[in-house]
This record gives sequence, C-alpha cells and structure tokens, in this order.
Amino acid sequence: MKILVLGGTVFLSKAVTAEAVRRGHEVICGARGTSGGVPEGARLVQIDRDQPGALDQLADEQFDAVVDVSKYSVTWVRDALRAFGETTPHWTFVSSISVYADHATDELHPALEDDPDAEFTAERYGSVKVASENAVREAVGGKEFVVRAGLITGPGDPSDRFGYWPARLSKGGRVVVPDSPELGFQHIDVRDLARWIVFAAEERVTGTFDSTGPVMPFQMAIGEIAGATAPAGTQLVPVSEDVLKQLEINPWAGPRSLPLWLPRAWAGMVGRDVSPALANGLKPRPLAETALDSLEYERGLGLDRPRKAGLTEQEEQEILTAAS
Ligand SMILES: NC(=O)c1ccc[n+]([C@@H]2O[C@H](COP(=O)([O-])OP(=O)(O)OC[C@H]3O[C@@H](n4cnc5c(N)ncnc54)[C@H](OP(=O)(O)O)[C@@H]3O)[C@@H](O)[C@H]2O)c1
Repeated sequence: MKILVLGGTVFLSKAVTAEAVRRGHEVICGARGTSGGVPEGARLVQIDRDQPGALDQLADEQFDAVVDVSKYSVTWVRDALRAFGETTPHWTFVSSISVYADHATDELHPALEDDPDAEFTAERYGSVKVASENAVREAVGGKEFVVRAGLITGPGDPSDRFGYWPARLSKGGRVVVPDSPELGFQHIDVRDLARWIVFAAEERVTGTFDSTGPVMPFQMAIGEIAGATAPAGTQLVPVSEDVLKQLEINPWAGPRSLPLWLPRAWAGMVGRDVSPALANGLKPRPLAETALDSLEYERGLGLDRPRKAGLTEQEEQEILTAAS
C-alpha cells in the first residue's frame, strides 16, 4: 500500500510510520520536520499545515490510506479531506477519549470549529477533536477509522508522564504513590496502537473505537511496573489525596505532579470499554514490557534530567515528610 501519514516525526505518528515501513508499505510523511526526522524507509514531504495550499505538492499523489493525527485544528483536518478524501479508500483519524464530556453517559463535548483568534488550549482539545471527527465522517463516511486513544505509553513519549514511574521506581528507596484504592488505570503502548492502525488500513477496518487497553486498578499497575523495574527493597509509600492536595501536587501530568494519578472527581476518565477495539484487532502487550522498554528509553535520555512531568527528589521528600 501507499500510505500518507500526516505527521511521522513524533511518537504515535512516527511509530505508525515505522510499523508501516516494517510491513513493506510505501510511506510518505507530511510534516514540517521541525520535531524530528521520519523513520528510515519513509519519505518526508515538508508541509506546514498552517500555510494555505500546504498540501498542493502532494496533489498528484494517490494513496491507499491516510493517517491523520491532527489535534490543533479542524481546518487542517478539512483541508486534508478535501485534498485526498475522495480518492483514498481508508481514512484513519486519531482522536482521543477527551471527546467525552461525561464518561458515565458518553456525552460528547460540543464540536468547536477553529477560531483564528483563539489560542489552542487543553480546554479546547476535546471539542476540536469532536469537530474533527464530525468532519471526517461527513467527508469520508463509511471509510473512516476513528481511533479515540486513551493514555499512550512507551518509548518516545514526549509528555514524560508514564516514563516517570519506571524511571523513579528503578532508583528504589521510598517511592510516593497515591493512596487511591478505587482508582483505575488504562493505557495503550504506542507500538501496539501503531500496529493496529496499520492493520486497520490493511484490513479496511472502519468505525469509531475507544482505543486503549483493559482497565486495571492503578495500584496494581504501579505494582507491575515496580515488579519489572524496581530493585529489591523498594518501598511504595501510599499518600492520601488530602496530603497531595494540601501540598499542591498536580494530578496526571506536568511539573510537581504525580503522573497518571487522578483525584476522585476525575476518576471516571478511566474505565472505557475496549472490547470492540480488542474484537477488531487491537492487541495490548503486557504492562511490564512497556515499563521495561520505557525504562531503557528513559535511561537513554538520562534518569536525572529535568522532566516535564513528575516529582523532583526534593518534592518527593517534602511529601514523605508531610505524610510521616
Ligand atoms: N499522547 C497521548 O497520551 C494521547 C492520548 C490521546 C490521544 N492522543 C492523540 O494521539 C495523537 C498523537 O500524535 P503524535 O504522537 O504523532 O504527536 P503529535 O504531537 O500530535 O504530532 C503530530 C505531528 O504533527 C506535525 N505537525 C505539527 N505542526 C505541524 C504543522 N504546522 N504542519 C504540519 N505538520 C505539523 C508534527 O511534525 P513537525 O513538528 O515536524 O511538523 C508531528 O509529526 C494526537 O492526535 C493526539 O491528540 C494522544
């Protein structure tokens, strides 16, 4: 197949490209190339989707499948559909479970079209994805494969979230973990999601799927990561939500955070039903494997580097002192 990946220079779109090349497909990546190179064997066509006519240089090409990971702009999604929608037999759009405004009822955020004066913010993310999904269904309905990804993990993650845990646990000692017995955990290894996206293009799988792994208790997930990466004698120290809040420890991501921890009020985000995805070919690997490979990636970057997400040694000590 000849596949157009709109992206290809970072994490998921890069993994999709690598997997498609590995399986013998011809892959063209449309991106600026400012975030990095594309995997060996793929061809980068430099485009800036913010520029009018960005896709013109690809206008004469015909593709068997398109994979679009756009997250900032419905206009980007529409431009790609206008250029290649009619002639392309299979269209993957990578969306997010952030499209759900209410996980209990599956209510979606309202669709939000681009506003040239508005900055892209986390608050707009789900609504832009909803509008983008709608644009895809409107233009190529019946050929669309909409991947509502949950937390994506594994080597190459630019967010630094999941990697915090294998990196921290590998150092041993007393490790702060959230005392949240009711909290769940769901993730998908980037390589498994990439493999499924390429498989779906090959097999013409269509539809809209919550695309993550089965849910497990958060504490069990930390236990499995520790089992794979922590030295003997490592002690997990559960700290209450109240203490974490008092110390202004952020949930989920970012600086001064306990990555992937969700306070009770947000816990509904974890618990999506993934059986349709599993029945259609998604094959998640064991968490321990993701943890070990993420640790190797973290070691390559340096375990003591400043992180985008997680606690510094000093912040963790502050919590241990407050909790004792
Ligand atoms: N990470 C998670 O846990 C998570 C969870 C749910 C859903 N998702 C979704 O999964 C997808 C992740 O995609 P990803 O890992 O490939 O990362 P990404 O950060 O979405 O990368 C997107 C690609 O867009 C390209 N790009 C950025 N600005 C551009 C421009 N102006 N013109 C042309 N290309 C541009 C980048 O390349 P250049 O910068 O080189 O141009 C890069 O290759 C996204 O759709 C995201 O919303 C992620």
